[in-house]
Amino acid sequence: MQVSSELLDLQTGADVASVAAWTDRYTHAVMDTFGPPQRVLVRGEGCYVWDADGRRYLDLLAGIAVNALGHAHPTLTAAISAQLGTLGHVSNFFGTPTQIALAETLLSKAQAPEGSRVFFTNSGTEAVEAAFKMTRRMGPGRVLALEGAFHGRSMGALALTSKQAYREPFEPLPGGVEHVPFGDTAALEAAFSAQAVAERGPVTALVVEPLQGEAGVRPLPPGYLAHARTLTADAGALLVLDEVQTGVGRTGSWFAYQQPEIGGGVVPDVVTLAKGLGGGFPIGAVIAYGERAATLLGRGQHGTTFGGNPVAAAAALATLGVIERDGLLQQVHDVGAQLREQIELCGSSLVREVRGRGLLLAVVLNAPVASEVAAQALEAGLIVNPVAPDAIRLAPPLILTADQARDAAAFFAALSLPTDAPTDTPTGQEA
Ligand SMILES: Cc1ncc(COP(=O)(O)O)c(C=O)c1O
Repeated sequence: MQVSSELLDLQTGADVASVAAWTDRYTHAVMDTFGPPQRVLVRGEGCYVWDADGRRYLDLLAGIAVNALGHAHPTLTAAISAQLGTLGHVSNFFGTPTQIALAETLLSKAQAPEGSRVFFTNSGTEAVEAAFKMTRRMGPGRVLALEGAFHGRSMGALALTSKQAYREPFEPLPGGVEHVPFGDTAALEAAFSAQAVAERGPVTALVVEPLQGEAGVRPLPPGYLAHARTLTADAGALLVLDEVQTGVGRTGSWFAYQQPEIGGGVVPDVVTLAKGLGGGFPIGAVIAYGERAATLLGRGQHGTTFGGNPVAAAAALATLGVIERDGLLQQVHDVGAQLREQIELCGSSLVREVRGRGLLLAVVLNAPVASEVAAQALEAGLIVNPVAPDAIRLAPPLILTADQARDAAAFFAALSLPTDAPTDTPTGQEA
């Protein structure tokens, strides 16, 4: 088989243009929604990536919590290639063994009750979009979401997202969404109160991230989700957990809510997944728990051309399989705890604290200099993310080793508080 040699050159990095030359071509060809790329990357292996100038980076972001198995993982590569070489795509008029097995595997990891079902998508926002449509099937009423929430950029997901700068240019957004203050149990109770129901209608669903990712890796207060479960159950409303960022082992369990300290033993009605699920291959999923949630979307009421594509399903099965086979949930727990402790104790005057869970962490700084720190990290060969003015997000591959975590901590140890920096910055919020 003769692959176009030009494409092969692009894929193998044999097309030896510099980062600067590629960046110039990018700015003339790719829509400017993300700003210019920080680097143009040509290959990856494990927890490292290389740019077009041949510089190596320790990837502590993993494509924003996506590359669960790192880069070019042989099992993932083989699974995708084998599926593509057998049956690459069918319409949803047909089923495939990989799609069916993936649905069964997710239901089993979720310990979902009898009658539960899965809907597949290609991304996180589409998973949230499907969940949002499910909430509409509960009848007229209010859908609650939290301040600081990020649920995606498509119109429904954007209606659930709270950040004004993301919302305003696209209004009017779908209505019926009410944002309640983050982690505030009394405010949540008020939103479910008889008075609120009389004035504004019943609550049909609460959509919530077990740990807010884009808002700066902010955990909910202990007991919040359990209380939310009680309130939603009493109101006959859905509890929708958006685990697009926190799911698939990221926090040290298959889903973050499964950790008693986070979920308090709740069984949700709906969970959305994406990001890490395909290990880098685009796939999302909605898990509907129990028959009531699983039958909200009837035949013809929702659909997708690519969702549940057999190649994506094979990628997800391989990713879940390697996480299980290689004991990565335990590794995330152990290496995450080590990384957290080493950064917390690194002695830098700039580091205030580390928050988060497993390998979804934010290093909170004593000054709003996260962008500068991220640029410095890149120069030093580390990819991190300034998720808030005063917070650096770390979401490395789940295969991160203890040695690599030590290298990450060493970078933070070498930082110091700039002498002219204001120190009374609020934490979190503006990503
Ligand atoms: C919690 C959460 N939900 C939804 C999304 C949207 O996912 P995607 O970017 O795949 O559309 C994200 C992305 O960051 C997310 O963190």
